[in-house]
Amino acid sequence: MSESDKKHRKIRSYVLREGRLTAGQERAFTTLWPEFGIEYTSEQQLDLVAIYGNNNPVILEIGFGNGASLAQMAAGNPRQNYLGIEVHSPGVGRLLLDIEEYDLTNLRVMRHDAVEVLQHCLTPQSLDGVYLFFPDPWHKKKHHKRRILQPAFIQLLARSLKPGGLFHAATDWEHYAEQMMEVLSATDGLFSNTAGRNNFSPRPDYRPVTKFEQRGERLGHGVWDLIFQRR
Ligand SMILES: C[S@@+](CC[C@H](N)C(=O)[O-])C[C@H]1O[C@@H](n2cnc3c(N)ncnc32)[C@H](O)[C@@H]1O
Repeated sequence: MSESDKKHRKIRSYVLREGRLTAGQERAFTTLWPEFGIEYTSEQQLDLVAIYGNNNPVILEIGFGNGASLAQMAAGNPRQNYLGIEVHSPGVGRLLLDIEEYDLTNLRVMRHDAVEVLQHCLTPQSLDGVYLFFPDPWHKKKHHKRRILQPAFIQLLARSLKPGGLFHAATDWEHYAEQMMEVLSATDGLFSNTAGRNNFSPRPDYRPVTKFEQRGERLGHGVWDLIFQRR
């Protein structure tokens, strides 16, 4: 493991709350996971063409929560492939059930830390887009180091994205939005802001309003979208 890998390992952007699986989610892990789940291994990189059975563009969503918005995107864009990564098992089970319900063939799921997946499983320039919608905001100053969006994370994204590929982040926490803007704008020319320097983007039509976002809206939170393009 390289020094930069070790540094990444220390940042855990989540706390594992192993909520109980519903009976339906348990069934999903037995019957649907073998077809739509991808086991994590640091030994072998993913062959995305073999996994999806085609050459279509691949979009990664990190931390999809209960997966409702990811399933909606996959259903609405059958010519794009989607890979969802989430650490929370009930959310993974819930998404597997949506895959079955909507009969989706263009969506696969991993239950693992997305940072390690980026480090070990994805080949350089293999992704056309990466979405990070409402990552855990880690409000307290002493926890800011746990925020997933850090300079080292941006380097991993830059490696996995194709030139021209988009990184799209959204948050309802203003301080995190400002930090995202700062980190993404200081990437030594790896990314350019599609909205122009220091500008946030309006929510594009392809991004459904997520569950977490709806909760924030009820609390009167604003929303900030950032869309950066890999040069
Ligand atoms: C605040 S929730 C938002 C969920 C969803 N995107 C939404 O907007 O409803 C953040 C999610 O990111 C997941 N998460 C945090 N760090 C992660 C990581 N390193 N790898 C995979 N998932 C992660 C958490 O388990 C959680 O479900």
